[in-house]
Amino acid sequence: MPILPILTYPDPRLKRIAEPVTDFGPDLAALLGDLAETMAAGPGGVGIAAPQVDRCVRICLVDCSKSRRPCVNHGLLELINPEIVEWSGMEVGREGCMSLPDFTANVVRATEVVCQYQDREGNEQVAHAEGFEARALQHELDHLEGTLFIDRVVSKKRDVFPRKRYR
Ligand code: NI
Repeated sequence: MPILPILTYPDPRLKRIAEPVTDFGPDLAALLGDLAETMAAGPGGVGIAAPQVDRCVRICLVDCSKSRRPCVNHGLLELINPEIVEWSGMEVGREGCMSLPDFTANVVRATEVVCQYQDREGNEQVAHAEGFEARALQHELDHLEGTLFIDRVVSKKRDVFPRKRYR
């Protein structure tokens, strides 16, 4: 399973809207494996979305179990065709992204979300996430719409910071 190259801002391919997954066969399993390996190899890798590796499909992974900040989490979530169906609360927090390696930013996100998605077999699943995991999930789902955290900051002057170190 190779580590895949990550597209970085301002690559226009990051702005595309990803296509639904319809084939739950061996190609999907292989891509999920590659994504997991690529996420684990990245600095601060709590999530990755397929468009970041130039695969324009609705797949993302979230894994907050190895986060620097301990938080309630589901371990590795393989989210295929995910959709947020409920959200509540609002909170500002710092985010980074492998596609914007030189910056972090303060971004407003819901504090709790309910996400419907399919697993690698195509079964419908529901995950209820809160706090940092909810933030990671919203960040990764944004990638499927061609949205980056930089698009969500209130003030590019005050809320974007050069990154000093990873993790
Ligand atoms: Ni990202």
